Amino acid sequence: MAPRNESRRRLPGLTVKEGFTPHPFDIEHGVRTSGLVAGRHLTTGHAHDKHATAYFGVAPSVFQRLITRWLRTPPAAPVEQTTFIDVGAGMGRALLLAAEMPFRQVIGVELHSALVRAAKRNLAVRRKAGRVRCATRIIEADAVDFAYPQGPVLLFLFNPFGAVVMRRLLKQLAKAFADRPGALDVLYVNDEQAWVFEQQKGFTRLFSGKVPRSRADAEADKRILDNQPEGEYASAPYEDCSLWRWMGKR
Ligand SMILES: C[S@@+](CC[C@H](N)C(=O)[O-])C[C@H]1O[C@@H](n2cnc3c(N)ncnc32)[C@H](O)[C@@H]1O
Repeated sequence: MAPRNESRRRLPGLTVKEGFTPHPFDIEHGVRTSGLVAGRHLTTGHAHDKHATAYFGVAPSVFQRLITRWLRTPPAAPVEQTTFIDVGAGMGRALLLAAEMPFRQVIGVELHSALVRAAKRNLAVRRKAGRVRCATRIIEADAVDFAYPQGPVLLFLFNPFGAVVMRRLLKQLAKAFADRPGALDVLYVNDEQAWVFEQQKGFTRLFSGKVPRSRADAEADKRILDNQPEGEYASAPYEDCSLWRWMGKR
């Protein structure tokens, strides 16, 4: 038998032996977005690798509740004109949820190639099932190198990286949206680096608080986290979230 290509081996944390348990989202939709990959295993050779937190798919209920909150804000532009961008898209769970909405387009940006491949496979499954409502693509890139499209943008972050990369990302956003106050909203789940937003002039916080998981998500995530071999990450029945709007440096 030919040796397996190293880069195509499952990432640590994604085998049953290592505690992998599927989330009901995957069972229901025939995709593979479950599992926990510790940040130290997300190596690509990029200088930003050491700042990656972990791979873990967002709880669908938290995603939906935060989107509902954003829709009530209300957004500065209609959903149909807005580009949704998941920065640190992983295997694409948030991206697949967003693709069911009538966004102008949905883009996932992910640094790790194995996760990009998984997200592309998942997207193909959902497309075949007729559940992708808008133009959707996944780009293998570092968050800070991505060139933002014209028009209103809704950025989604599920705690992808630490303060160093977050600061660089916000500086790049401030530059890209310098002449477009109001054209950028950010949904931030597990917002450990919210203080970096507070330091970056031009962002206004529209919401900050605990967004509860549904009971099914809480049970599923607890099961997954209880199974992690080294017990690095804790599970909670909610996520600390915030919602930010770029108002420009007035
Ligand atoms: C917690 S997961 C979130 C997955 C997905 N957004 C979701 O909600 O289901 C964070 C992801 O950010 C990615 N990531 C970390 N640093 C990155 C960087 N500098 N550029 C792009 N992606 C990055 C990780 O590889 C990981 O897949």
